[in-house]
Amino acid sequence: MSIDHVFVAGAGLMGHGIAQVHAAVGKHVTLYEPDLARAVAGRDRIAGSLDRAVAKGRLAAADRDATLARLTPADSLDGAARADLVIEAVFEDEAVKAALWAALDAVAPAGAIFASNTSSISIDRLAAATSGARRPRFVGMHFFSPVPVMPLVELIRGAATDDATETAIRALSAELGKQVIVSADRPGFIVNRVLMPLLAEAMRAYEEGTGTADDIDTGAKVGLNHPMGPLELADFIGLDVCLGIMRVLHEGLGGPQFEPPQVLVDLVAGGHLGQKTGRGFHTYPR
Ligand code: CAA
Repeated sequence: MSIDHVFVAGAGLMGHGIAQVHAAVGKHVTLYEPDLARAVAGRDRIAGSLDRAVAKGRLAAADRDATLARLTPADSLDGAARADLVIEAVFEDEAVKAALWAALDAVAPAGAIFASNTSSISIDRLAAATSGARRPRFVGMHFFSPVPVMPLVELIRGAATDDATETAIRALSAELGKQVIVSADRPGFIVNRVLMPLLAEAMRAYEEGTGTADDIDTGAKVGLNHPMGPLELADFIGLDVCLGIMRVLHEGLGGPQFEPPQVLVDLVAGGHLGQKTGRGFHTYPR
């Protein structure tokens, strides 16, 4: 099937990046937030990213303008009525996501694919919020941050997802320049199951006083050749997001490696969510 119109629900760290990469390859994108100012802020963030690419000589000004012209911020779900694909990238809260999917199911065309960017929540449980007729076209399409840079899509098939939907998401991912891996619908899928124990262990080393945040991060960067240290990466992802994913992993799989460290619980309770609030394991701007 051809995907021309994409409705992206959520204009935060992931949603704005997902909207950007689709608009950049010629899709018409509606960027939805219930509050229009947040949808417009998402579009402005995309404009800033495209401006930096133009300034670096990586993008022609005309292509930036054309990409932005294909993006429509919206505070209503009506745009989903024209969508070939709906991507949901709202906060990792199962009840919030399920309510949104149920509302979108009532608006979107019967043939539209529904893709959740959830980083850990069961695709089958989210699909259950939609009608039985929709479920063959319900799939997980998990992007990585920063979306324009990270070339991976984790595709999660639910029990009802059909082959045509997987084929369409694979073709779209290729258009976006992303490589696909397929994960079973298990807690945290593949990447976060591997990543979160590393981040949690770095946090435990920090809370036990094994090293400073800077030394723990430098250890991973210089000693392991990671692009970011684990504490810096947790701050970048969002400490609330990391905590939510660790909880899903711990509840779903058990195992002490997934248990959220106390220091993470305390930082989130104190409103220190990482880069987005200016403080996490580090303070920002650094
Ligand atoms: N949007 C668009 N482009 C961006 C960007 C952004 N937010 N951030 C960086 N870039 C681009 C830069 O423009 C630059 O491009 P050019 O080389 O063409 O000029 C390139 O990326 C490298 O950027 P920088 O030189 O500024 O910085 P860097 O070399 O330190 O790289 C990084 C930055 C790509 C973010 C790198 O540090 C990195 O790969 N970090 C790890 C990121 C990671 O692990 N992401 C996955 C997180 S897990 C997740 O997202 C899923 C989940 O469910 C939690």
